[in-house]
Amino acid sequence: MQKIILKINSIHKMNKQIAVLPGDGIGPEVIAEAQKSLQAIEKIRGHKFTYVPVLGGAAAIDACGNPMPDETVDICKQSDAVLFGAFGSPKYDNDPNAKVRPEQGLLAIRKRLELFANIRPIYTFPALIHKSPIKKEIVDGADFVVVRELTGGMYFGMKGRTEDGKSAFDTNLYSVYEIERILKCAYELSLKRRKKLLVVDKANVLASSRLWRETAQRMSKDYPEVETSYMFVDNASMRIVTTPKDFDVMVTENTFGDILTDEASVITGSMGLMPSASIGVYTSLFEPIHGSYPQAAGKNIANPMAAILSAAMLLETGFGLKEEAQIVTDAVNKALADGIRTEDIAEGKAYGTKEVGDYIAKVILETK
Ligand code: IPM
Ligand code: MN
Repeated sequence: MQKIILKINSIHKMNKQIAVLPGDGIGPEVIAEAQKSLQAIEKIRGHKFTYVPVLGGAAAIDACGNPMPDETVDICKQSDAVLFGAFGSPKYDNDPNAKVRPEQGLLAIRKRLELFANIRPIYTFPALIHKSPIKKEIVDGADFVVVRELTGGMYFGMKGRTEDGKSAFDTNLYSVYEIERILKCAYELSLKRRKKLLVVDKANVLASSRLWRETAQRMSKDYPEVETSYMFVDNASMRIVTTPKDFDVMVTENTFGDILTDEASVITGSMGLMPSASIGVYTSLFEPIHGSYPQAAGKNIANPMAAILSAAMLLETGFGLKEEAQIVTDAVNKALADGIRTEDIAEGKAYGTKEVGDYIAKVILETK
């Protein structure tokens, strides 16, 4: 039996290239810890991952004036996955005249890698349930996924000012092709979960939402096993904090998804724990949702768990290594349970970014 298992494992040994884009602020620190966990997985399972560091965000503006250099896009396209930290720097935030901003690098990489589906899982951590500002009985057991469209809508539609400069507009443009593509992704995910898909829109007011709903109604016939339902975004935003356990997979457009996922993050008790995946046409990108948090940069205080859980998503969603992903997730839960936590979630002694990362990597290495 032992021999057979060993054989199966060796067949599944993987050789993969990962583009590592740490970015700005706490990005480099948390990504270094995520990489430690991936290296621990390589060791215990015999995979070979090659890490190619690339530049982006404020770091790239400083180096070459462009927050998303062509070279970075090319290397990412050729890689099997991208491990991403965060972009953003106060140097540019506080300057309304800045012509280039790190965030443009983020939008550029989304568009150029066609990272159209942003998957943000929302679940609770047993050791942190009491940290959520929402009552325990409401959040305990909540487990859903928001599928946010990431390359369309107001973020990328026609925008500008009128000639007199006294009015401005952003166009919420969506094509049937884009809507079908993201809905297909959400339906496929629903089939792997509890087979309940909620389409969140504002079809009582917006023409773009009516196209979403029309498209979903048509596609729902191709997925008879999945129960499709619809909700207006204002109502959904209320339900996320009142009845989060009702949800399984929620799919929505770019702007609504941006807002709803920040709101949903309060369910977990800490933004420092939330990973995400952006599924693309060429490759997929994995990133913590917490951002660059510049005030904490270089202080060894940032929570690396969201980045480490993003590495777990990379293993599962990017490489199909479900068991390895579970090993990483279990190690994070063990660190939480053992009180090896950074100051944002510490109870008693707070540990540094590196110490938490080392602990988690050690737990992984000890896994049989
Ligand atoms: C996110 C962020 C970005 C977004 C910003 C930084 C452009 O808030 O990833 O959710 O709005 O998409
Ligand atoms: Mn956001």
